[in-house]
Amino acid sequence: MTDVGKVFPNGNVAVNNINIDISAGEFISFVGPSGCGKSTIFKMISGLIDNTKGNIEILGSDMNDTGQKRTDVGFVFQDATLLPWRSVLDNVMLPLEFQKMSKQEKKQEALRALELVGLEDYTKSLPRQLSGGMRMRVSIARALVAKPKLLLMDEPFGALDEITRQSLQTELLRIWEKQKMTVLFITHNVFEAVYLSTRIAVMTPSPGKIASTVDVPLAFPRNDEIRTTHQFSDIVAQVSHDLKF
Ligand SMILES: Nc1ncnc2c1ncn2[C@@H]1O[C@H](COP(=O)(O)OP(=O)(O)OP(=O)(O)O)[C@@H](O)[C@H]1O
Ligand SMILES: [Mg+2]
Repeated sequence: MTDVGKVFPNGNVAVNNINIDISAGEFISFVGPSGCGKSTIFKMISGLIDNTKGNIEILGSDMNDTGQKRTDVGFVFQDATLLPWRSVLDNVMLPLEFQKMSKQEKKQEALRALELVGLEDYTKSLPRQLSGGMRMRVSIARALVAKPKLLLMDEPFGALDEITRQSLQTELLRIWEKQKMTVLFITHNVFEAVYLSTRIAVMTPSPGKIASTVDVPLAFPRNDEIRTTHQFSDIVAQVSHDLKF
């Protein structure tokens, strides 16, 4: 993103000058105060809304040139946003609806995505028959089914209890390592950001800018023991410090 800005039609300046270069395969988290423009940045990257200033280049092509590569981008929202009348399998097949594939192939792909999140035994369930954590896993499977090269996750685990949140974090890292995709992740939780990321972008209050980026040189695969190490808490302290200037 080069000098990217967004002014909404009502005059709200959501973000002003976003400059960041993210490499393929990174897992980068965005942290920053409420209203600083994190969700707006993700919506611009996914093409849900347009930027009003600057340039966004994704996967080697300029967003302003073509809309093609947007199919390579998966989005996981804070709420699971599943269709309540569709089964788990049918929800996960949704992004494949308009792809040239046989029904059988679509089913196969959806099953594969559900296996990744450990829900292969719940294909026939309806969303309301699942727990919040399971619904979120369905939503992650739905984002993964089209094999995105870039996965955007906007506070996906915000509504979950700590135990579920931590196990989903570990599951997500396992999927990320396996699929070798790039993940952009929004969270308010600095511990979560450090546990997951290779790098953290710390944002200023509205209109947001990127105040600093902090590298997280902790080795992968990461396990729960890492959360209590000195190195871990040092990085948490650094990010927390950068958040309050
Ligand atoms: N559709 C819109 N029209 C006008 N202003 C908007 C719109 N969407 C967001 N904004 C404004 O843009 C700014 C950034 O909003 P955004 O949702 O990106 O923040 P955020 O960092 O994701 O916050 P949170 O952490 O609370 O989710 C806010 O000041 C908000 O009021
Ligand atoms: Mg937001």
